[in-house]
Amino acid sequence: MPGIKVEDIAHVRFSAPDLRVMRAFLEDFGLRCFEDGGRLYGAASDGRPFVHVTEAGPAKFLAVGFRAKSVADLERLAALENVPVTDLDEPGGGKIVRLIDPDGYRVEVVAGQATSEAISQFADLPRNTVAAKARIRSTVRLEAAPSHVRRIGHAVLKVRDFRASEAWYKKRFGFLTSDEVEAAKDVPLGAFMRCDRGDEPSDHHTLFLAQMPGALGLLHAAFEVANFDDLMLGHQHLTARNRKAAWGVGRHIMGSQIFDYWTDPFGNELEHWTDGDLFTAADPPQRAPMSALLAVQWGSPHPMFAAKAPPPMSVVSFLIALHLRISRLFRAQPKGIQA
Ligand SMILES: [Fe+2]
Repeated sequence: MPGIKVEDIAHVRFSAPDLRVMRAFLEDFGLRCFEDGGRLYGAASDGRPFVHVTEAGPAKFLAVGFRAKSVADLERLAALENVPVTDLDEPGGGKIVRLIDPDGYRVEVVAGQATSEAISQFADLPRNTVAAKARIRSTVRLEAAPSHVRRIGHAVLKVRDFRASEAWYKKRFGFLTSDEVEAAKDVPLGAFMRCDRGDEPSDHHTLFLAQMPGALGLLHAAFEVANFDDLMLGHQHLTARNRKAAWGVGRHIMGSQIFDYWTDPFGNELEHWTDGDLFTAADPPQRAPMSALLAVQWGSPHPMFAAKAPPPMSVVSFLIALHLRISRLFRAQPKGIQA
């Protein structure tokens, strides 16, 4: 029985040595920025007070935030964890419970934040397809602009022990697996997990935990934009501003999103996405090979495979599976035995 069922991701939190530099990037990315209490906030158009926070300090990922359905749920979670519910002293107010996950990541669960009306800044015109001509006697005329970010949608964390982290997040927040990704048969490297909203559709993933070689950290945070045209306008804008592209544009396999990844001036990766899958709690978990994680249905290949002589996918899968097997073997050894 999980502690509570979170309803969505709320925010990601970073520190950076220059808030002005971060702000300029985030505005190019399509967030509405403002400063409050010495922190930089980025808001989307969904009426939530913020989706991105930057504090002054060394360039670092600080925390991921999830949204509980109610303050009563927060109190339940806090009682289970034996931690306090405190006032959230940030724009929008509300309450917060602060936890630390098995890898030391700060997890901030919030509820009761004040919201304002969602703003629709982008005309989502009907599309003409062979099957349906929905736009008659009207034209498409798009204005050059940053993407119109609607909301934050997911975060991807590197973890040391996928099974331990999966159990930790599922137990507390009620996440459901959409796709478990395997480097080899029965060698899972991670899972795309979504919120359990019962019959109400939920994004294919709100959190992806990935056990991969290299240092821990946030792999990326993702933000939903109005539609495909809006994503491409954003791509054009970020390119014109000489921002650093990371991967895209393309369409993922798991989750099916059209994606576009960018790197902020401090090395954090942020994604624009549109047209992702939605599932209810009735949809069972699937298993998928690692090749489906790195391949695209169309569009730019993953940077690893964009080189002149890319490594074969089978070799990459083999090496990751080997890494996972060895790291799990060593973790299974008893600790503290002296020679
Ligand atoms: Fe993503």
